[in-house]
Amino acid sequence: MKKRYTLEQKHWDSPADHAMPEHSRVPASFTIGNVRIAPATVLAPMAGVTDTVFRRFIKNASQFATSVSDTNVEEATTNQQSGCGLIMTEFTSADGLARTRESKRKRYLTFYDDEHPISAQLFGSNPASLAESARIVQDAGFDLVDLNLGCPAKRVVRCNGGSGLLRDLPLIERIFRTIRAAVSIPFTVKFRMGWSDAEIVCVDLARLAEDCGLNAVALHARTREDGYTGQARWQYIAAVKDAVRIPVIGNGDIRTPEDAAAMVHATGCDAIMIGRGAPANPWIFRQIAQYTASKEATGIGSYDIPTDQDRYRMIRTYFQMLVDEIALEEAAESARAAAIIASGQVARDLRQRDAVGKMKQFAAWFTHGIPNGSALRRAIFEARTGPAVLAAVESFFATRAQDPGVHGNSRDIEQNDTLLTAAAFCN
Ligand SMILES: Cc1cc2nc3c(=O)[nH]c(=O)nc-3n(C[C@H](O)[C@H](O)[C@H](O)COP(=O)(O)O)c2cc1C
Repeated sequence: MKKRYTLEQKHWDSPADHAMPEHSRVPASFTIGNVRIAPATVLAPMAGVTDTVFRRFIKNASQFATSVSDTNVEEATTNQQSGCGLIMTEFTSADGLARTRESKRKRYLTFYDDEHPISAQLFGSNPASLAESARIVQDAGFDLVDLNLGCPAKRVVRCNGGSGLLRDLPLIERIFRTIRAAVSIPFTVKFRMGWSDAEIVCVDLARLAEDCGLNAVALHARTREDGYTGQARWQYIAAVKDAVRIPVIGNGDIRTPEDAAAMVHATGCDAIMIGRGAPANPWIFRQIAQYTASKEATGIGSYDIPTDQDRYRMIRTYFQMLVDEIALEEAAESARAAAIIASGQVARDLRQRDAVGKMKQFAAWFTHGIPNGSALRRAIFEARTGPAVLAAVESFFATRAQDPGVHGNSRDIEQNDTLLTAAAFCN
């Protein structure tokens, strides 16, 4: 049975362990049109995941990372170097956006100043509404606009959107040209290899994108029929890279800094994109940056392994950001909500209602890799309010802090030590 395209899609099929490439590393930067992206790493668009809270959480990952296990978690950190070069919104329906009243669009296109550079992803199959939506995205201040030609979900494919379009290159060409003519910001496309193994179109599609003036392409190296099964076939990323001069972003099955270097080594891609690896291990971009820098300096890649204290800070930071964002949204949406938010108890209930759902959703990702993480998951799922969730997190880590044997630490990774890191983050 095909896997579903949901947040539950958090496991990798038989993850491959890559031999550590000696010389390759993720490039320090690349440019898409006139936008410089440094380092050459991209957070993949993920519906239900990459909203503004998660994007800023990833961008500020250094706030909850420290290799010193007994640091006071209340202490502010100043290091903003996240290691993630570009973030993207989850996909937004072009038809929906073009139809929505201006006052309501903010709901779909919210981002903050510290998110630049940021790309907005659209899906649809109507060239006119896609072009109109691309203009809206440009006017909203996004740095780039991206077209989704990869989504395998039936309700999207049924309307010819996402990977449904992969069977109609002439329509894709019309869409490319119409969007290109509508906006001046860089325009990119993210696609799968084709509908099925019998209909692989990725090389033709990348050439078409280049001919139509697109500024970069990103390939998730699977077909629509693959869903998420099997391993991403990176050789198709290499084939696309050979075929075009615009930047190529490789995507599929990067779970560790070693994987990222291995993809660059195997494909020559200009940048790498990470999806499921980010919620499973929010430190991944920072670890890639550390791995790249240390490898360049010493020939041996090393990076910090999160300590218990780091995990605690991470979970608490994300949950608090969720509560704060929801309060802000509600305050902005109605004066009544704003008044209630100012008034204490009721406000807390309002704020928590939506936040708790998201906390539970993310608990499943964040608790992987934590020894006895299932107990924390259970406690979070049993909690009914935001403070109860936070209390469950506090209590779990407080108990663990009394066991001195549980802290991880920074360590060097030997050249062939891929298995260890994969096991640490992706159980
Ligand atoms: C929960 C979830 C939601 C996704 N939503 C989108 C989306 O909105 N747009 C898109 O282009 N790809 C979407 N994808 C695909 C990812 O961007 C990415 O191509 C895929 O997960 C493979 O990369 P990975 O192996 O690093 O996860 C989604 C994937 C997941 C798991």
